[in-house]
Amino acid sequence: MEYAIVVENLTKKFGNLIAVNNISFKVKKGELFGFLGPNGAGKTTTINILSTLLKKTSGKVYVNNFDVSKKMDEVRKSIGIVFQEPALDNRLTGRENLYFHARIYGMNKEESKKRVEEILKLVELEDKADKLVMYYSGGMKRRLEIARGLIHNPKVLFLDEPTLGLDAQTRRHIWEHIKKLNKEKGITILLTTHYMEEADFLCDRVAIIDLGKIVVIGRNDKLKDSLGGDTIELIVKGDKKSFVEEIKKLRSVKKIVKNGKGKIRIIAEKGETLLPRIIREAEKTKNKIISINLKKPSLEDVFLHYTGKTIREESVDLKKEFMKRRMKMRRH
Ligand SMILES: Nc1ncnc2c1ncn2[C@@H]1O[C@H](COP(=O)(O)OP(=O)(O)OP(=O)(O)O)[C@@H](O)[C@H]1O
Ligand SMILES: [Mg+2]
Repeated sequence: MEYAIVVENLTKKFGNLIAVNNISFKVKKGELFGFLGPNGAGKTTTINILSTLLKKTSGKVYVNNFDVSKKMDEVRKSIGIVFQEPALDNRLTGRENLYFHARIYGMNKEESKKRVEEILKLVELEDKADKLVMYYSGGMKRRLEIARGLIHNPKVLFLDEPTLGLDAQTRRHIWEHIKKLNKEKGITILLTTHYMEEADFLCDRVAIIDLGKIVVIGRNDKLKDSLGGDTIELIVKGDKKSFVEEIKKLRSVKKIVKNGKGKIRIIAEKGETLLPRIIREAEKTKNKIISINLKKPSLEDVFLHYTGKTIREESVDLKKEFMKRRMKMRRH
């Protein structure tokens, strides 16, 4: 197996604070890997170490087989990075931003021009290329930043919160671009996010990170399956007792609860394979199905299961803390 990124026992301390606490993970070539975690979890710190912008305290990190502490130039040439904070020059046009970046990366004039046109096309900004960036929308700026990160044809792209602060529709548009880069261009991507839907839609695998530690790591579907099963909720009318008895006998059913008024809740592995069976058993036992609903665990459920809290709770706490501090400052 060839890996694009190998991290072993990585730790980063800022004074007494352990921002990244002994984490290990590997990203395969061509993979779209996500770091999912709340504010302050250590996502940006990790990306900064992987891209040589920050020195680690201890551990081993290899990117494209280069040791990030020893082969910094090689690492930098082989990666692209899009920062959490916008980093474009607003007084230049989109095309100029890209052109200067290409030149900084050592491409000659001809090469740079050619590459800029290619990459503008890739992110569909050709017709906006000569506008000043200050007149770009949030989504256009993000696409331009991604384009800039790709100018030197990197094998690995780091995206730190690629859709932070964008509206739902623009976010979806950016997702399509990211997917395309990964699937069609074969670029290995490591992204960070605290949006569940983003990690769920984009990533092959995710690491859930909280307080500097990787709490759990795996394929999205496997993580969801690890919670013990899907929930099927149904409402039936008829001889419920014999229906429930029959369902109980099925091997994949783990739990069945009657909630009164014909409501039945079934916890089962691979719920979708059970649906036809449920319908058949209902017919056999002379029950009429009024409604049926299959719910797969979400990444949100996975996060809650492994960290004991929701990502949203965390953000609300931070917001409260922020407001408190602001009030204090006003009083002084
Ligand atoms: N240069 C620094 N000096 C001191 N502490 C830092 C520094 N950079 C980050 N930290 C701290 O390290 C921890 C991890 O920060 P980091 O920026 O990596 O989190 P994050 O997961 O990217 O969060 P967010 O979702 O808010 O971007 C936080 O507690 C932060 O305050
Ligand atoms: Mg961050």
